[in-house]
Amino acid sequence: MSTTVSDVSPPRSAVEQPPEPGFEELAKRVDEAVAALQSLDPAARAVAEELKSAIEAVHRAGLVTIVRGMRADVAAQAVLFDLVDDPVVHLLLSLHEIIRPDPMTQATKALNAVRPQLHGHGGDVELVRIEDRTAFVRLKGACNGCSMSSVTLRNLVEQALVENLPSVTSVEVLPNEPEPTLISADSLFPARHRIEDGWAQAGDIADVAEGNLKVVELSAANSDQRVSVLMVNLDQRLTAYVNECAHEALPLDNAVLDTSNGTLTCPWHGFCYDAASGECLTAPAAQLEQLPLRVDEGRIWVRVGT
Ligand code: FES
Repeated sequence: MSTTVSDVSPPRSAVEQPPEPGFEELAKRVDEAVAALQSLDPAARAVAEELKSAIEAVHRAGLVTIVRGMRADVAAQAVLFDLVDDPVVHLLLSLHEIIRPDPMTQATKALNAVRPQLHGHGGDVELVRIEDRTAFVRLKGACNGCSMSSVTLRNLVEQALVENLPSVTSVEVLPNEPEPTLISADSLFPARHRIEDGWAQAGDIADVAEGNLKVVELSAANSDQRVSVLMVNLDQRLTAYVNECAHEALPLDNAVLDTSNGTLTCPWHGFCYDAASGECLTAPAAQLEQLPLRVDEGRIWVRVGT
């Protein structure tokens, strides 16, 4: 009797399987392949992009079938919800637009995309809430008035939200809070929030315990613009960053700080950063924006303006 290869192979379970690549490795590979596409001549690039698009269409069709099947089965639903929490699965389903972030997250992303234009007009926007298909916002800076500029800015905000969020059909601009300049800054804010020359007090050093993160909203003295700041205490060393992930500028409020290896991981799609420097370990060209920070008599100061 002849012996085939399968007759002498060890049982499948006994074979050591190589470990599956992690999220960072997978994301790096995608980034590198996309970057390499740019160096191809236009004809080769078109072929490569068509191949990519065809493969993605197959993957999307298969994933939609899997997700639909799991959602239809009560027992499988729990497994599906667990799987969606996995960064790789979340990224995959988001890339194929099979799952969508909640409306506030989508709206934040849409507004972040037009924020440079708003800043260019001396304005900014604060998203307050979304209710019954209406987004409620406050316009800041030059937007806070009746000039043509404020009309332009309102239109920019409205367009960004209505065009990008199917769940939003109208935008309502709420009246602004009274201008802080009309009231003594000392009476309006506790001393720890007072502002000097671009530096803003960000609380007491005891507020950010070792191995913890804290997010604060700060404004420079010469600007109405509020900056969301993420402070990180790693090994008794405090660092401040603009609270925006380098991937899609989403907030890092619920980022995971791993003190054992000094990394900070974004909760949205798992981009991983060196917590002490802000260097992105997932996509080497990316970086968190670090802000100057000093500690004076136990108080933290962060420079958010010029
Ligand atoms: S926003 Fe996508 S990884 Fe942070």
